[in-house]
Amino acid sequence: MAIERTLSIIKPDATSRNLTGKINAKFEDAGLRIIAQKRIHLTKAQAGVFYAVHKERPFYDELTSFMSSEPVVVQVLEGEDAITRNREVMGATNPAEAAEGTIRREFALSLGENSVHGSDAPETAAVEIAYFFSGLELVG
Ligand code: CMP
Repeated sequence: MAIERTLSIIKPDATSRNLTGKINAKFEDAGLRIIAQKRIHLTKAQAGVFYAVHKERPFYDELTSFMSSEPVVVQVLEGEDAITRNREVMGATNPAEAAEGTIRREFALSLGENSVHGSDAPETAAVEIAYFFSGLELVG
C-alpha cells in the first residue's frame, strides 16, 4: 500500500464544541499523521470555491453558509492508504448511517453538520491540499 496524503477539515459544528483534540486523537489512533494543520475562518466565497463541485446541488448555499459560520481546522493527514483510511475513520456522510466508533457516529449532528470532511480520491486530495497549503507547510 502506498503512503498517501489527504485533506481533512474539522468543520464548524466540531470546532465550536471544542472537539478538535478528540477528533485528532481518532486520526492518530488510526495511524494517520497530522503533517500540517491550521485554524482559519473561511469566507462564504472561499467555501464556495472549495465546494464548487456541488454548485448545482440544492444544499450548496446551506453548505457554504455553514462552512463559513465559525472557524474550521484544515489539515493534511499522511499515512498508508490515507484517503481510504481517513474515510473509514470519518464514517458515512450521514451520521445516521455511520458505523460505531467513527467520528461522524460519535460527534456529527446531522448530514450537513457532520463534523469532518475528507478528500475522496488522490486527484481531489492534491487539489484540496493545494487550496489551503503551500509545499513548505507540509512537514512529513
Ligand atoms: P463533505 O464530505 O464535506 O462533502 C460535501 C458536504 O455536503 C457533505 O460532507 C455534507 O456535509 C454536505 N451535504 C451532503 N448532502 C447534503 C444535504 N442533502 N443537505 C445538506 N448538506 C449536505
